[in-house]
Amino acid sequence: MAWCGHVTAFLTIFCFHFSEESSMPSRYIDRWEKVSIRYGYWYELPSYQSTAFKEGYRRINDVCKTALHHGFLFEKDGNTKTMPIYDLNGNLAGIQSSIPGNMKGFNSLNQSIDLPPLEIMPPVLKGTRDHKGMLHYTVTAYFKHPRLICSPIATADASPGKGLYIQTGFDLDVDFLRIPLESKNLSPLWKKGPCLPLMGVHYFMNLDFDLPCEKLYPVFLTYDMEGKLGAFGWVFQGRPHNFYSNDGLGHWFHLTPITYPFIFDTSMLPSCMMNSKFQVFGIHVFLRDHREMVCTKSMDKLLQTLRSSPITPISQIPSQRTIINADDISNSNAVNDYSDNASTCHMTSVRWTHIAGLVYLCLCSLLLKRMP
Ligand SMILES: *[C@@H]1O[C@H](CO)[C@@H](O)[C@H](O)[C@H]1NC(C)=O
Ligand SMILES: *[C@@H]1O[C@H](CO)[C@@H](O)[C@H](O)[C@H]1NC(C)=O
Repeated sequence: MAWCGHVTAFLTIFCFHFSEESSMPSRYIDRWEKVSIRYGYWYELPSYQSTAFKEGYRRINDVCKTALHHGFLFEKDGNTKTMPIYDLNGNLAGIQSSIPGNMKGFNSLNQSIDLPPLEIMPPVLKGTRDHKGMLHYTVTAYFKHPRLICSPIATADASPGKGLYIQTGFDLDVDFLRIPLESKNLSPLWKKGPCLPLMGVHYFMNLDFDLPCEKLYPVFLTYDMEGKLGAFGWVFQGRPHNFYSNDGLGHWFHLTPITYPFIFDTSMLPSCMMNSKFQVFGIHVFLRDHREMVCTKSMDKLLQTLRSSPITPISQIPSQRTIINADDISNSNAVNDYSDNASTCHMTSVRWTHIAGLVYLCLCSLLLKRMP
């Protein structure tokens, strides 16, 4: 009897511990817990410059402020899809992706155009030429205020703490777009798209039936069911020649009209995107554990989700990679789950821990009752 009392007390404390943690996310304020890329498998970016060096990255610039970005850019194995940026203190502070300038695509009249189109510059910025003379374009996001990447001094208008900022020009002191941490603060230009399991509720800038295809904005955002920012991504028209990197691993997602439901609600899309030769590619960058980005209230689905997605980073255990296949996802019922409204779904893993705690408590009180 006494032992069960102890167990109950322990579980109560355990349960409170969880609720404490969920209601007081103080340790999350300064930085994102982890930044992982959904490449077709999960890949966690090194949180520190020192770790990046150990994992075989090389530093590209030695002066913190460059014309194209602020911070120290790192690259590994010719993978230019997601290059981490570290701040003066060696902390992960941003990410830059580079796309080649030799792709072809379509405008709103289904005419062939050069990519990337002028209409999406910025945030796409003209970058540098590679050794073959081909021009590359970059897009860059920062995880803290851009003015604090190369300077430790916080000012009234540049407060420390985690965030998401998209670079929108060559003068980073002023040329950036601040992304709200809560979806309720998004400007109405961001159109709500589907909620997709393990990705969250997607928002696309200006995306609707009338959008000319050359204006397809390269940044999208995803928020969890409670409206908290969880991830963002790039999406570009076309298909790059360097679809796979030299390491043979990380690749972009690639979508055609048939596989659009991987990220889009097809009823929102302009007709030029339905052109059968139209294609897009991109990448998801998670700022939090993707398992929190659920879309449905159903306990079964939640359990399924939690069980089916180990988060082992590939850099540590390559043999246990989680392979994600866009086709599997678009063929499963999961993709249709967004017909449940995002706003009606409130279940998060945090509440799940509450329920788990309560279940434990219930079981224990049952045990107590049965004791002689
Ligand atoms: C472009 O192609 C799509 C799909 O084939 C079609 O629905 C649309 O009407 C075309 N647009 C124009 C302007 O021709
Ligand atoms: C979704 O929202 C619409 C309008 O807000 C509502 O009519 C509909 O019943 C909701 N659907 C679900 C599944 O909750």
